[in-house]
Amino acid sequence: MARANQAQSGPGFGIYVHWPFCLSKCPYCDFNSHVRPQIDEPRFRAAMITELKHRAASTKGRIVESVFFGGGTPSLMQPQTVAAILEAIAKYWKMAASVEVTLEANPTSVEAERFRSYRSAGVNRASLGIQAFNDDDLKLLGRMHSKAEALAALNVAASVFDRYSFDLIYARPGQSVKAWQAELAEALTHAGEHLSLYQLTIEPDTMFERLRDAGKLVLPDMGRARGLWDATQETMGKAGMPAYEISNHARPGGESRHNLIYWRYGEYVGVGPGAHGRIATPKGRRAQATERHPEMWLTVVEADGHGLVEDELLSSEEQGDEFLLMGLRLAEGIEPRRFEEFSGRRLDPAQVKSLVAEGMVEYTRDGRLRVSAAGFPVLDAVVADLAA
Ligand SMILES: C[S@@+](CC[C@H](N)C(=O)[O-])C[C@H]1O[C@@H](n2cnc3c(N)ncnc32)[C@H](O)[C@@H]1O
Ligand code: SF4
Repeated sequence: MARANQAQSGPGFGIYVHWPFCLSKCPYCDFNSHVRPQIDEPRFRAAMITELKHRAASTKGRIVESVFFGGGTPSLMQPQTVAAILEAIAKYWKMAASVEVTLEANPTSVEAERFRSYRSAGVNRASLGIQAFNDDDLKLLGRMHSKAEALAALNVAASVFDRYSFDLIYARPGQSVKAWQAELAEALTHAGEHLSLYQLTIEPDTMFERLRDAGKLVLPDMGRARGLWDATQETMGKAGMPAYEISNHARPGGESRHNLIYWRYGEYVGVGPGAHGRIATPKGRRAQATERHPEMWLTVVEADGHGLVEDELLSSEEQGDEFLLMGLRLAEGIEPRRFEEFSGRRLDPAQVKSLVAEGMVEYTRDGRLRVSAAGFPVLDAVVADLAA
């Protein structure tokens, strides 16, 4: 896995804006996304701005390095909503000259038509949910777009935005290593500087969980899944886009700065239904989360000026665990010194030694600790051992 250059100033500060609406619910998805016949967008827009003002009061002096419109489907937002939110952010905080402003988009033709207006509003990076490069699998995944539409949307994104990325889901039912290699090779011909490649996971309370439990959805077994993972790493490495995080690949310099803030355990605020935040205070980090239900969130924000349902100081142990959980996903790994600062303890030397001996983790020349190529396919187990 490749290493991204860590910004000199530390992990930085970002803002996440959650738009919780979609045209339909995909059968694999457990994100906070809802289908509504109608949305009172001006009210949601005003409430987002109210929440931004609330978060600005507790994060004075921060410089915004990234804004991320995630969802749900933010490409269903009116461009004037995106513009109004970005104007509010610029009013409440100082913006870095190189601020990254990403908007997640679904690749239907209607949404691609709005790309230019998003750019005029200040968006400079698009992240498209392509998911598959064949119509049969797009259908299986319950997607509303065809391969042809996805390609058209990618062309528009490439011509409109300085930077763009797209997501694919692999380890789909019936997918062979050979078929995935061919699909990935095709995907690479349309890639910019960044690709997110996720193994299909069956999430609780989704349609796919019900289908799997009924024996109607059969996923690749562990051996096939491992073959698909290995093929992914090999193909992407050869293409000059190695993984800088377990599921994210980029050409050097093309990494998502927003996600790096999360993984490097930087600071971020989240506004909108079900958004999370982590804010540094002299006493330690606060973990924040908002009400998930969209209309309930709206009512609470209008009444109280914010939608926070969780705003707690994390214990040293919790901070250390989160730091490990996030940082070890990165190819660059972690600085043990920062773990000590957050957790108030050292990593267990015997545990580290044994994981090094097993080839699961390794030290870099500059003293960082990172998961090895052999450790990444079993990352959860490695993190659990280190956090113990
Ligand atoms: C917030 S979601 C979706 C953004 C956008 N609404 C879309 O669908 O294109 C971000 C990404 O997570 C991935 N994802 C969501 N659920 C998944 C699952 N169960 N397994 C693997 N990847 C998943 C998809 O690739 C998706 O594009
Ligand atoms: S995958 Fe994307 S479009 Fe589908 S329900 Fe989830 S957030 Fe909405």
